[in-house]
Amino acid sequence: MKKKLYIETYGCQMNVADSEVVASVMGERNFEISENQEEADVILVNTCSVRDNAEKRVWGRLRHLNSLKKNNKSLKLGLIGCMAERIGDEMLEDKVVDIVAGPDAYRDLPYLYDKAVEGADAINVELTIDETYDSIIPKRMTEGISGFVSITRGCNNFCTYCIVPYTRGRERSRDPKDILAEVRDMLKNGYKEVTLLGQNVDSYKWMEEGSNKPVRFHHLLEMVAQEDPTLRVRFSTPHPKDIKESVVKMIAKYPNICKHIHLPIQAGNDEVLKRMNRKYTVEWYMNRVEMIRKHIPDCSITTDAFCGFCGETEEQFQGTLDMMKWVHYDTAFMFKYSERPGTYAAKKLEDDVPEEVKGERLTRMIDLQSKLSMESNEKDIGKIVEVLVEGPSKRSADDFCGRCSQNKMVVFPKQDAKVGEYVRVKVLRFTQTTLIGEMVEKIDAPTM
Ligand code: SAH
Ligand code: SF4
Ligand code: F3S
Repeated sequence: MKKKLYIETYGCQMNVADSEVVASVMGERNFEISENQEEADVILVNTCSVRDNAEKRVWGRLRHLNSLKKNNKSLKLGLIGCMAERIGDEMLEDKVVDIVAGPDAYRDLPYLYDKAVEGADAINVELTIDETYDSIIPKRMTEGISGFVSITRGCNNFCTYCIVPYTRGRERSRDPKDILAEVRDMLKNGYKEVTLLGQNVDSYKWMEEGSNKPVRFHHLLEMVAQEDPTLRVRFSTPHPKDIKESVVKMIAKYPNICKHIHLPIQAGNDEVLKRMNRKYTVEWYMNRVEMIRKHIPDCSITTDAFCGFCGETEEQFQGTLDMMKWVHYDTAFMFKYSERPGTYAAKKLEDDVPEEVKGERLTRMIDLQSKLSMESNEKDIGKIVEVLVEGPSKRSADDFCGRCSQNKMVVFPKQDAKVGEYVRVKVLRFTQTTLIGEMVEKIDAPTM
C-alpha cells in the first residue's frame, strides 16, 4: 500500500518548483500525492520567510493542520522551505511539527519521515554549496500547460533587507544537460511553456569540464528556445545590476521567448538603493530600460518595489513613484518593508519608518500602479496578441483565458480553440488586470 503525501506550497515560484522535486523524491519511496489532507500520512508545508506576514500565515495553517492529528493519529506534519531553514529547529523543539527539512535537504525527506515515525528528532537544515537536485525529474503536480524549471539555487547578493541568502544559501547553477532533460520531460508531457527560475538568473554560469568558455544565461536561453519552437520560454528574476544586452538580444531573436522582463527596482532613490546594497543607481536602471526598449519596443516591463525601508524620507519615497511613472510598469508587486531577523538591515539599520507611514506610502504606490496598468492595457486596444490557451476563464465557462507574450491575462470567447493551443486574439476591451478580445485565428507556434 502506498502512503499518502499532501503538499501545501507558499512563497515564490522556486517553492512551487521545489515541491515538485519533493513529490518526486517521496514518489521514489512509495509515497503518492493526495489531494486530501484528512487522509494523508504526511503533510509537508513548503514555506516562505520573505516578510513577516508570509510567516504568520503559515503559523495559522500549522495550527489547523495539527488539529487533524485528533482523527488521524499516525499523521506526521513536516515543515520545509525557507521557514524550516530559519526557525525549523525551534518549531521542532516546541513540537509544532514532526519533520523539518531546509531547501537543500529534500533528498533526506523519506529518511526524516522514518525517523519521525520512530519518534526521533527528524531535522536537516544543512545548507550545501552544491545541491541542485541533479537527475531528479520533478513530479509535475499541475495539469501541464505551463511549468517551472530552476536553473540556479541560492543567492549571493545579500541585499541588506533580504532573508533569501540565509534561507537558500550560496548561489549555484545547474548543469544545462539536467535543465534540458527537464524541459524535454515537460514537452513529452504536453507542456507548452517553461519559466526558468533563479533569484538572479543573469548570473547563471556553467563550466563544462574540459571547456574554457562558460555557458551563460543567454546561451541557456537559446538552448531552451531551440528545443522546440512551440514551447514558450519565460524567466524570472533578472537583477538590474547584471542584465546584459546579450540576454535582451536573445529575447528579441526568438519568437518563442516571451517579450516580458520582470526587473525589480525596489526603490527609486540612490541613497536608499545604496542602503539596500542593490549595487545599481537610478541612472543605471534607466539606462537598462532604454537598452531593453531599443531592442524590443513591445517588451513589457514589470517590477517589485517596497516602501518604508530604513531611513526612507518622503522625498526619497517620491523617487520610487517617479521611477514607476518613468518606466510606466505594466504591473508591479508592491510591499511594505518588513524587518527580517539576522539580515544586515536588522542588525545595523533602524526600522524607523512608522507603520502608518509605510501603509500610507504603499497605498500611494498601489494607486499609482493601478492607473499605470489601466493606461498600459488601454494602449493594447485594437492590437493582435498571441495567446497560449490555459483554460476556462474564471468568470465565464464560455470564455478561455491565457497569457500573451507580454504576460498579460487575455480572455476571449472559446469558439473552436483548445487548451494548449496558440491563438491570435484582437483586443477589444480591458480591465486593470485583463485584456478582453476575440479570437482571430489559430497559429502553430509563437511568431512575435
Ligand atoms: N531575487 C529577487 C526577489 C526575491 S524576493 C530579486 O532580487 O528581485 C521578492 C521580493 O520581495 C523582492 O523583490 C522585494 O521586493 C520583496 N522583499 C524582499 N525582502 C523584503 C522585506 N524584508 N520586506 C519587504 N519586501 C521584501
Ligand atoms: Fe534577496 Fe537581493 Fe538575492 Fe533578490 S537578489 S533574493 S532581493 S538578496
Ligand atoms: Fe520566500 Fe524563500 Fe522564495 S523566503 S520568496 S520562499 S526563496
